[in-house]
Amino acid sequence: MNPTRRPRRLRRDGVRSLVSEVSLSASDLVAPVFVDATAEERAPIPSMPGHERVPLDDIVARVREVRETGVEAVILFGIPQSKDARGSRAWADDGVVQEAVRRVTADTDAYVITDVCLCEYTDHGHCGVLTSEASERLEAARSSSAVEASATDDSTLTVRNDETLELLRKTAVSHAEAGADMVAPSSMTDGMVGAIRAGLDEADHTDVGIMSYAVKYESAFYGPFRDAADGAPAFGDRRHYQMDPANAREALREARLDAEQGADVLMVKPALSYLDIVRSVREEFDHPVAAYNVSGEYAMLHAAAEKEWLDLEAVAHESLLSIKRAGADLIVTYFAEDVARRL
Ligand code: PBG
Repeated sequence: MNPTRRPRRLRRDGVRSLVSEVSLSASDLVAPVFVDATAEERAPIPSMPGHERVPLDDIVARVREVRETGVEAVILFGIPQSKDARGSRAWADDGVVQEAVRRVTADTDAYVITDVCLCEYTDHGHCGVLTSEASERLEAARSSSAVEASATDDSTLTVRNDETLELLRKTAVSHAEAGADMVAPSSMTDGMVGAIRAGLDEADHTDVGIMSYAVKYESAFYGPFRDAADGAPAFGDRRHYQMDPANAREALREARLDAEQGADVLMVKPALSYLDIVRSVREEFDHPVAAYNVSGEYAMLHAAAEKEWLDLEAVAHESLLSIKRAGADLIVTYFAEDVARRL
């Protein structure tokens, strides 16, 4: 029997690209950049090959490198000079991100997005103000050697939601004052988008957009990032504020809240293990959808490639293509420069 329908006809070289449904372009990609107030020179991040923590004096050069690949947007993460209980360097006018934004916007044409969170700035590594119970637990842990036992038994209710909102608002406004084009709150604090939108509008930054990490899961794929940005929690985990990986309907609820509060772009994070979520947010909302191809997703492909088990270039491209196919308009990815260079 000869088949009469032959999908293979459209897989030949001349026609393949004519019928391809999605494609990748450098303008879809956002490159994460780490700026480090404690660094004198660039320091490689071991679990994220090709990425470095960059000192302030090198940040303009670093962003120019990104732009040369065709990638137009960066998202900045800061490693501050010092940390404290409330994360006050997050909203300091002379903070590391604020200073980096000033330099990058003065000297490059990059579109500058800033991550708004407290975990890189608090000495306990949580994304907000600790409850008194959690502070006591932390104190007890610090003054005894039994850190693990006393501090990790109960991670619920570590962070005060509403007190954190004010700090996020101040942080976002300080980024806008420095010249950020868009702010990206990543702490999964209830009400964060509304608080930040109100703060930006009051301060006359009505043009500064919000890309909300609307659907952010409590994922083990953030490991390498936490090394890179020095933002691992000193005790417990983030499961009472980030989403349970088991939940899909809740993702729509989260996205809806952020949409109602004025988010301009809705982000899903991580990307590859959550492509179903990217798709459902795409279908449910008419906002642009972003996906964050996170550090662990980057690190595992590099690790396999290092063993020569995978072809890095091919799997990186295929990963990003799959994220677009799922429905993302833009992708935050550590592969941005490598993939863009080859497009
Ligand atoms: C800050 C933040 C994190 C990431 C982006 N912003 C870490 C976390 O939530 O623990 C992770 C990014 C990555 O893994 O690439 N809250």
